[in-house]
Amino acid sequence: MSTEKLRLKVLEVVQETGDAHSIVFEKPAGVTYKPGQFLTLRLPWQDSYVARCYSLSSAPDVDDHLKVTIKRVLDGRGSNWVCDNVLQGHELEVLAPSGTFTPKSLDTDYLLLAGGSGITPVMSIIRTSLAKGSNKMLLVYANRDEQSVIFHSELRDLVAQHPERLVVLHWLETVQGLPSLKPLQEIVRPWGHSEAFICGPAPFMDCAADALKGLGMSRDRIHIERFTSLAGDPWTEVEAQPTTAGGPTVDLVVTLDGETHELDWPEDQKLLDFLLEKGLDAPYSCREGACSACGVKLLKGEVAMDNNSVLEQDDLDEGWRLACQSHPTTGPVEVTYDD
Ligand code: FES
Repeated sequence: MSTEKLRLKVLEVVQETGDAHSIVFEKPAGVTYKPGQFLTLRLPWQDSYVARCYSLSSAPDVDDHLKVTIKRVLDGRGSNWVCDNVLQGHELEVLAPSGTFTPKSLDTDYLLLAGGSGITPVMSIIRTSLAKGSNKMLLVYANRDEQSVIFHSELRDLVAQHPERLVVLHWLETVQGLPSLKPLQEIVRPWGHSEAFICGPAPFMDCAADALKGLGMSRDRIHIERFTSLAGDPWTEVEAQPTTAGGPTVDLVVTLDGETHELDWPEDQKLLDFLLEKGLDAPYSCREGACSACGVKLLKGEVAMDNNSVLEQDDLDEGWRLACQSHPTTGPVEVTYDD
């Protein structure tokens, strides 16, 4: 993860379906990412800007470029602006890739549940796994109708190339109705041993997660990607919260970019503010608890978060916390960014 602010050139705009576009960006040297991560785009809106997170559909170690795939949303400021305005040759301001919706091993079997544009990070996971891993995958992909299926022919080609590793089942609302618990459970039941990744509209994700939990899949094997629109502009400098001089502190050990730092953390200061004040290049994007770019793994102690709109219970159980929202509650605290 990185907070690096980039200016990316648009190499190509691909119309995927009637209401979904892929934006292909030139990938600057040194920019790395994991399958399942997202870019934060700065987009003009009225006299100002909005920031929106879009998952990468490109696959690291496979594609030379960065690609995000964006579907129009009714009244969606960011998605509609991109689909209406972005052309080849344009340059957009972007924050470097981040996010925690990423597989740990490409040799673990995956159950992938995607709805609509939720296919985007899933496509990156599938293509990376097929190129670099040995796992088997079932994708259940829900859409309104056949015309709304993003990556239809690409998925068909991938199945034809890897029939022993990838199965794709399409769920079309016009044929099967909205996805519902019992039928979904019957489809995924044989994949109870796998690790699940779920991305799509909120009702779809809730239904999919309930189906898996109902089958007894443990929460730590269910990964859910939720995006909320950012209220602020991460490109604007945020004033760090003032602290009480000489106030109580806790012992903090933080590992970042392979280096370990031992610090005294003021109890009334958020972790991200404190680390930035200390000159560490800690990652962040929204600074409002909505994107997970600042995610740290808690190894010891406990922190309290002022706001969390993005981490699921299983993320919390795994130890993930949002540095931009965290105060110490039980010291000493140890966290790592290098998980
Ligand atoms: S920077 Fe977005 S949640 Fe912390």
